Amino acid sequence: MSKLFVLKPISDLLSESKADHGLRKSLSALNLTTLGIGAVIGAGIFVLTGQAAAQYAGPAIVISFLISGFACLFAGLCYAEFASMIPISGSAYTYAYATMGEFMAWIIGWDLILEYLFAASTVSVGWSGYVVSFLRDFGIIIPAQFTAALGTVLVDIPQVGWKMITPELTKSLADTGVSITNLPHLTGILNLPAMFVVAALTTLLLIGIRESASFNNIMVVVKVFVILLFIGIGFMFVNKANWIPFIPENTGEWGHYGWSGILRGAAVIFFAYIGFDAVSTAAQEAKNPKRDMPIGILGSLGISTILYVLVAIVLTGIVSYTFLNVSDPIAVGVDAMGPGLFWLRPIIKVAAIAGLSSVILVMLLGQPRIFFSMAKDGLLPPVFSKIHPRFKTPYVSTLVTGSVALVLAGILPINILGELVSIGTLLAFAIVCIAVIILRVKRPDIPRSFKTPFVPLVPILGAGICILQMVSLPWETWARLIAWMALGFVIYFTYGIRNSKIRNSQK
Ligand code: ALA
Repeated sequence: MSKLFVLKPISDLLSESKADHGLRKSLSALNLTTLGIGAVIGAGIFVLTGQAAAQYAGPAIVISFLISGFACLFAGLCYAEFASMIPISGSAYTYAYATMGEFMAWIIGWDLILEYLFAASTVSVGWSGYVVSFLRDFGIIIPAQFTAALGTVLVDIPQVGWKMITPELTKSLADTGVSITNLPHLTGILNLPAMFVVAALTTLLLIGIRESASFNNIMVVVKVFVILLFIGIGFMFVNKANWIPFIPENTGEWGHYGWSGILRGAAVIFFAYIGFDAVSTAAQEAKNPKRDMPIGILGSLGISTILYVLVAIVLTGIVSYTFLNVSDPIAVGVDAMGPGLFWLRPIIKVAAIAGLSSVILVMLLGQPRIFFSMAKDGLLPPVFSKIHPRFKTPYVSTLVTGSVALVLAGILPINILGELVSIGTLLAFAIVCIAVIILRVKRPDIPRSFKTPFVPLVPILGAGICILQMVSLPWETWARLIAWMALGFVIYFTYGIRNSKIRNSQK
């Protein structure tokens, strides 16, 4: 039993981080920061902000962004300490192996699949939505049954196009006097654009880390530039009346306006911050990880938070939050600026497509590197740690990740995927926060080039807020998490436990 909690010696980790592992060390502090921004700014801001403002928080979504940003900052500080101390590709998986033992490491490694691989699929579905609408603006129509998850029922709304039927949609149509049953319906078969983007980005990742980082840099420049453009122009169109009341009165239901709505909004837009930790998966490809990992993690988190808060301020200032319950809120904001700014609309869509592409790319980059570390430790078959002789990429794990993400993106709807990503990420963040405290007590001697301030307060707050947010998620999401973990236990007890290198070396 005690063997379940066997620790990976820190000395092993440190020598692994120095050994030649075949990966190319080419990422600078700037690359790591853009990698973080690449992973962070995406569906959260381009899709969820408006819905969260309209349904839960009103203009006070700005406060929701600040609360969620603070919670992530606590976790980010803990990640930064670990990443500067143990610069190994596996991220939270590796940190848990060194502090809480192999079984916990397996749990977190398995859990991280929910964050990275499932996030890649989730955001691909969002990408598909934006691409379909962009192409439609140019008269190119992709048949609707090939743009939706298997079995989802779509309805054709006049002037809007095909939309997935949800209780909210049925209600809002009924409010305008339209009965959903009288509109044409069809059933989704596959989300082909979502599958296409996963396939294309997986190919890029197979070719090389430098090529992938360059593509990511271009996408990040495009999305950040357009977001700044929106903020800059938008400020001139703010009508202060839209901010009043800043915190709309509670409707009588928990989570709908008022302070409970702000908290619910914070939990929903937590998705927008997911990804800064992906920087830690690329530690072995960083030129100077001890110094640059904290810069990459905290820099990308800080920049994204500032941009989010500014976008939220401007967006709720130009349009009344009541009009924002749409899947393209930023485009609605541009419409509200008047006909003189119609040229900005396609540019916003291009930025969203670029932004979502980079999120998918970095998630598809992070996952194989976690598999790589797990395979090196013997917890997954050795083939997952194979490096391509020419491209220097973990090509088998990249292909496996891409293939699974492609299938999920093709057949599952965005809401199921998104909630799994949030619960998985929150669990990982909570474990990393707790691990910082454990390692401070057990191994105060290891040099840390970055130290989390106010330990144990910051990690306790970080873990506490994450657990609170997990509790607020629906029970179905918990059931799926438990089922996923049960599958992980089966794999660990049939494969990992027998093949673990550390365990076998201690026999
Ligand atoms: N934070 C990422 C996004 O919003 C996952 O798309």
